[in-house]
Amino acid sequence: LRLGVLASGGGTNLQAIIDRCREGKLAAEVVLVLSNKPQAGALQRARSCGIPAVVVDHRHCPDREAFDRRMVDALRQAEVDLVILAGFMRILTPVFLSAFPQRIMNIHPGLLPAFPGIDAQRQALEYGVKLAGCTVHFVDPGVDTGPIIIQAAVPVLDDDDESSLARRILEQEHRIYPRAIQLYAEGRLRIEGRRVRIDQKVA
Ligand code: GRF
Repeated sequence: LRLGVLASGGGTNLQAIIDRCREGKLAAEVVLVLSNKPQAGALQRARSCGIPAVVVDHRHCPDREAFDRRMVDALRQAEVDLVILAGFMRILTPVFLSAFPQRIMNIHPGLLPAFPGIDAQRQALEYGVKLAGCTVHFVDPGVDTGPIIIQAAVPVLDDDDESSLARRILEQEHRIYPRAIQLYAEGRLRIEGRRVRIDQKVA
Protein backbone atom coordinates (compact mmCIF):
# COMPACT_ATOMS: atom_id res chain seq x y z
CA LEU A 1 0.00 0.00 0.00
CA ARG A 2 1.60 3.30 -1.16
CA LEU A 3 1.22 6.10 1.39
CA GLY A 4 1.45 9.84 0.79
CA VAL A 5 1.90 11.75 4.05
CA LEU A 6 0.99 15.43 4.49
CA ALA A 7 2.58 17.10 7.53
CA SER A 8 3.15 20.64 8.77
CA GLY A 9 5.03 19.94 11.99
CA GLY A 10 7.72 17.83 13.61
CA GLY A 11 6.61 14.61 11.99
CA THR A 12 6.62 12.18 14.93
CA ASN A 13 3.50 10.47 13.53
CA LEU A 14 5.23 10.23 10.15
CA GLN A 15 8.26 8.72 11.89
CA ALA A 16 6.11 6.13 13.72
CA ILE A 17 4.50 5.10 10.41
CA ILE A 18 7.87 4.86 8.62
CA ASP A 19 9.30 2.80 11.50
CA ARG A 20 6.36 0.33 11.55
CA CYS A 21 6.63 -0.10 7.75
CA ARG A 22 10.35 -0.80 7.97
CA GLU A 23 9.89 -3.22 10.90
CA GLY A 24 7.47 -5.18 8.73
CA LYS A 25 4.57 -4.47 11.11
CA LEU A 26 2.72 -2.31 8.58
CA ALA A 27 2.22 -3.65 5.04
CA ALA A 28 2.74 -0.25 3.47
CA GLU A 29 5.40 2.12 2.21
CA VAL A 30 5.64 5.91 2.58
CA VAL A 31 6.46 6.97 -0.99
CA LEU A 32 6.04 10.75 -0.66
CA VAL A 33 5.95 13.37 2.08
CA LEU A 34 4.42 16.79 1.37
CA SER A 35 4.48 19.85 3.61
CA ASN A 36 3.19 23.39 3.29
CA LYS A 37 5.94 24.49 5.71
CA PRO A 38 9.46 24.64 4.22
CA GLN A 39 11.01 24.21 7.70
CA ALA A 40 8.79 21.32 8.83
CA GLY A 41 10.71 18.69 10.78
CA ALA A 42 8.66 16.09 8.92
CA LEU A 43 10.55 16.96 5.71
CA GLN A 44 13.91 16.37 7.41
CA ARG A 45 12.70 13.05 8.79
CA ALA A 46 11.60 11.94 5.32
CA ARG A 47 14.85 12.98 3.69
CA SER A 48 16.97 11.21 6.30
CA CYS A 49 14.90 8.09 5.58
CA GLY A 50 15.51 8.45 1.83
CA ILE A 51 11.86 9.32 1.13
CA PRO A 52 11.01 12.08 -1.44
CA ALA A 53 9.95 15.19 0.48
CA VAL A 54 8.33 18.11 -1.31
CA VAL A 55 7.28 21.58 -0.14
CA VAL A 56 4.04 22.89 -1.59
CA ASP A 57 3.97 26.41 -0.22
CA HIS A 58 0.39 27.67 -0.02
CA ARG A 59 1.73 31.25 0.03
CA HIS A 60 2.85 30.73 -3.60
CA CYS A 61 -0.60 29.53 -4.68
CA PRO A 62 -3.34 32.01 -5.74
CA ASP A 63 -6.03 30.11 -3.81
CA ARG A 64 -6.80 26.94 -1.84
CA GLU A 65 -7.91 25.04 -4.96
CA ALA A 66 -4.61 25.75 -6.77
CA PHE A 67 -2.71 24.61 -3.67
CA ASP A 68 -4.75 21.41 -3.51
CA ARG A 69 -4.27 20.72 -7.24
CA ARG A 70 -0.50 20.92 -6.85
CA MET A 71 -0.58 18.43 -3.99
CA VAL A 72 -2.95 16.11 -5.88
CA ASP A 73 -0.65 16.16 -8.93
CA ALA A 74 2.37 15.22 -6.81
CA LEU A 75 0.45 12.43 -5.03
CA ARG A 76 -0.86 11.03 -8.31
CA GLN A 77 2.62 11.08 -9.86
CA ALA A 78 3.82 9.05 -6.85
CA GLU A 79 0.87 6.67 -7.42
CA VAL A 80 -0.27 7.07 -3.81
CA ASP A 81 -3.08 4.73 -2.68
CA LEU A 82 -3.88 6.28 0.70
CA VAL A 83 -3.30 9.86 1.89
CA ILE A 84 -2.25 10.32 5.53
CA LEU A 85 -2.64 13.70 7.23
CA ALA A 86 -0.22 13.80 10.16
CA GLY A 87 -0.13 17.15 11.92
CA PHE A 88 -1.23 18.82 8.68
CA MET A 89 -2.62 22.28 9.40
CA ARG A 90 -4.51 23.16 6.21
CA ILE A 91 -8.17 22.62 5.35
CA LEU A 92 -8.54 20.53 2.19
CA THR A 93 -11.04 21.60 -0.47
CA PRO A 94 -13.38 19.32 -2.46
CA VAL A 95 -10.71 19.46 -5.22
CA PHE A 96 -8.47 17.35 -2.99
CA LEU A 97 -11.18 15.24 -1.34
CA SER A 98 -12.67 14.21 -4.70
CA ALA A 99 -9.26 13.06 -5.94
CA PHE A 100 -9.00 10.52 -3.07
CA PRO A 101 -12.57 9.52 -2.14
CA GLN A 102 -12.59 7.63 1.21
CA ARG A 103 -8.81 7.37 0.92
CA ILE A 104 -7.70 10.17 3.24
CA MET A 105 -7.06 9.63 6.96
CA ASN A 106 -6.36 12.16 9.71
CA ILE A 107 -5.32 11.96 13.35
CA HIS A 108 -6.75 14.41 15.87
CA PRO A 109 -5.30 14.76 19.41
CA GLY A 110 -8.75 14.67 21.01
CA LEU A 111 -11.64 12.24 21.52
CA LEU A 112 -13.91 13.48 18.70
CA PRO A 113 -16.53 14.80 18.56
CA ALA A 114 -15.18 16.56 21.63
CA PHE A 115 -12.68 19.38 21.11
CA PRO A 116 -12.36 19.60 17.30
CA GLY A 117 -10.01 22.12 15.71
CA ILE A 118 -6.69 23.34 17.04
CA ASP A 119 -5.31 22.98 20.57
CA ALA A 120 -7.56 20.02 21.42
CA GLN A 121 -5.23 19.12 24.30
CA ARG A 122 -5.59 22.59 25.83
CA GLN A 123 -9.37 22.54 25.27
CA ALA A 124 -9.54 19.24 27.21
CA LEU A 125 -7.43 20.63 30.08
CA GLU A 126 -9.51 23.80 30.33
CA TYR A 127 -12.78 21.90 30.22
CA GLY A 128 -11.60 19.72 33.09
CA VAL A 129 -12.22 16.31 31.47
CA LYS A 130 -10.72 13.26 33.22
CA LEU A 131 -10.15 11.38 29.97
CA ALA A 132 -8.53 12.80 26.85
CA GLY A 133 -7.06 11.00 23.88
CA CYS A 134 -6.81 10.83 20.11
CA THR A 135 -8.88 9.83 17.10
CA VAL A 136 -8.00 8.44 13.66
CA HIS A 137 -10.77 9.15 11.18
CA PHE A 138 -11.48 9.31 7.46
CA VAL A 139 -11.48 12.90 6.20
CA ASP A 140 -14.74 14.38 4.94
CA PRO A 141 -15.52 17.98 3.91
CA GLY A 142 -15.86 19.09 7.55
CA VAL A 143 -13.08 19.79 10.08
CA ASP A 144 -12.39 16.68 12.20
CA THR A 145 -15.87 15.33 11.37
CA GLY A 146 -15.21 12.22 9.24
CA PRO A 147 -16.08 8.59 10.13
CA ILE A 148 -14.03 7.42 13.13
CA ILE A 149 -11.72 4.41 12.69
CA ILE A 150 -9.85 4.07 16.03
CA GLN A 151 -9.69 6.06 19.28
CA ALA A 152 -7.42 5.82 22.32
CA ALA A 153 -8.06 7.39 25.74
CA VAL A 154 -5.53 8.62 28.29
CA PRO A 155 -6.10 9.92 31.85
CA VAL A 156 -5.81 13.64 32.53
CA LEU A 157 -3.77 13.99 35.76
CA ASP A 158 -4.19 16.77 38.31
CA ASP A 159 -0.68 18.11 37.70
CA ASP A 160 -0.93 17.94 33.91
CA ASP A 161 -0.15 20.95 31.81
CA GLU A 162 -0.67 21.17 28.05
CA SER A 163 2.70 19.67 27.20
CA SER A 164 2.53 16.72 29.64
CA LEU A 165 -0.95 15.85 28.38
CA ALA A 166 0.05 16.34 24.72
CA ARG A 167 3.02 14.02 25.25
CA ARG A 168 0.80 11.30 26.76
CA ILE A 169 -1.67 11.64 23.85
CA LEU A 170 1.12 11.63 21.25
CA GLU A 171 2.33 8.25 22.54
CA GLN A 172 -1.12 6.84 21.77
CA GLU A 173 -1.21 8.55 18.36
CA HIS A 174 1.93 6.67 17.44
CA ARG A 175 0.18 3.40 18.36
CA ILE A 176 -3.24 3.85 16.74
CA TYR A 177 -2.29 5.53 13.47
CA PRO A 178 -0.15 2.64 12.16
CA ARG A 179 -2.85 0.23 13.38
CA ALA A 180 -5.58 2.07 11.44
CA ILE A 181 -3.47 2.07 8.27
CA GLN A 182 -2.77 -1.67 8.69
CA LEU A 183 -6.53 -2.36 8.94
CA TYR A 184 -6.99 -0.42 5.71
CA ALA A 185 -4.12 -2.33 4.06
CA GLU A 186 -5.86 -5.58 5.04
CA GLY A 187 -9.09 -4.32 3.46
CA ARG A 188 -10.92 -4.67 6.77
CA LEU A 189 -12.45 -1.18 7.05
CA ARG A 190 -16.12 -0.83 6.00
CA ILE A 191 -17.58 2.68 5.93
CA GLU A 192 -21.33 2.51 6.58
CA GLY A 193 -22.68 6.06 6.74
CA ARG A 194 -21.01 7.70 9.73
CA ARG A 195 -19.75 4.42 11.13
CA VAL A 196 -16.65 2.43 10.25
CA ARG A 197 -16.95 -1.31 10.88
CA ILE A 198 -13.84 -3.42 11.19
CA ASP A 199 -14.16 -6.86 9.55
CA GLN A 200 -12.74 -9.75 11.54
CA LYS A 201 -9.27 -10.82 10.50
CA VAL A 202 -9.39 -13.34 7.66
CA ALA A 203 -7.73 -16.56 8.81
C1 GRF B 1 0.64 17.00 17.41
O1 GRF B 1 -0.02 17.96 18.22
C2 GRF B 1 -0.27 15.83 17.21
O2 GRF B 1 -1.07 15.66 18.36
C3 GRF B 1 -1.10 16.25 16.04
O3 GRF B 1 -0.28 17.08 15.23
C4 GRF B 1 0.81 17.59 16.02
C5 GRF B 1 2.13 17.28 15.41
O4 GRF B 1 2.28 15.91 15.30
N1 GRF B 1 -1.54 15.09 15.30
P1 GRF B 1 3.62 15.31 14.57
O5 GRF B 1 4.65 15.16 15.65
O6 GRF B 1 4.06 16.35 13.54
O7 GRF B 1 3.20 14.01 13.98
